[in-house]
Amino acid sequence: MGKAISCIAHDMKTPLMAIGGFIQQVKRKIADDKLARKLDFTFEQVQRLEVLVGDMLAFAKPLTLQYQQGMINHLLEEIVMISGEKAARHGVTIRTELQENMPVAEYDKNRLHQALLNLVNNAVEASPKGSEVIMRNQHLGTDIIVEVADSGSGIPKDLFDDIFTPFVTTKKEGTGLGLPIAKKIIDAHGGAIHVIDNSDKGVTFRITVPVKPQGHL
Ligand SMILES: Nc1ncnc2c1ncn2[C@@H]1O[C@H](COP(=O)(O)OP(=O)(O)OP(=O)(O)O)[C@@H](O)[C@H]1O
Ligand SMILES: [Mg+2]
Repeated sequence: MGKAISCIAHDMKTPLMAIGGFIQQVKRKIADDKLARKLDFTFEQVQRLEVLVGDMLAFAKPLTLQYQQGMINHLLEEIVMISGEKAARHGVTIRTELQENMPVAEYDKNRLHQALLNLVNNAVEASPKGSEVIMRNQHLGTDIIVEVADSGSGIPKDLFDDIFTPFVTTKKEGTGLGLPIAKKIIDAHGGAIHVIDNSDKGVTFRITVPVKPQGHL
């Protein structure tokens, strides 16, 4: 499956980039406003496909982690900042409950960022207006735990076992690659990802990653 996805995505990448480039060139020469708007729309669709191709490649390509030392609280604050605009559009607030004195950890910053961002995006997308998404963390033994909790719609029972399977989505504009990519990244760190049904409302995604990669302890 990974190989098929990778081949398709790879073959889509070059023509898409060419189409995007040509649209921009043509747009510069067009004076008609109506046509220009149509070209803008076409360009947006091409950009959506480019994001999709990027996700497909991220899922299918083998993952080599670039470990570096980092403070997990900084990473979480960065994610809150980046997600702020999307959350505001949904009328959702992202709140952090961060433990002080978290240890300096070793992880692939960009990848972990991507995994957590996918979880926060899902939480925001599932959240009703006026609600909160909470990001919290904890240091437990040799692990770091990060939770993303929402009080949204929750995950339908019949979908619970399939959400980490590629292309499983309930969203009109979803691809169903956010969680498989997150899982792949967390697994590569020697960690784990779980989803917990909140007793009141919504779900909590919990990731566990070792403070230091296995073998470095
Ligand atoms: N926090 C959540 N609350 C409720 N349902 C969720 C949550 N997170 C994930 N899901 C369910 O799991 C499905 C798969 O999530 P995933 O992130 O893999 O794909 P997606 O969000 O649909 O699309 P995308 O590729 O854009 O992320 C979602 O379509 C949704 O039904
Ligand atoms: Mg998603």
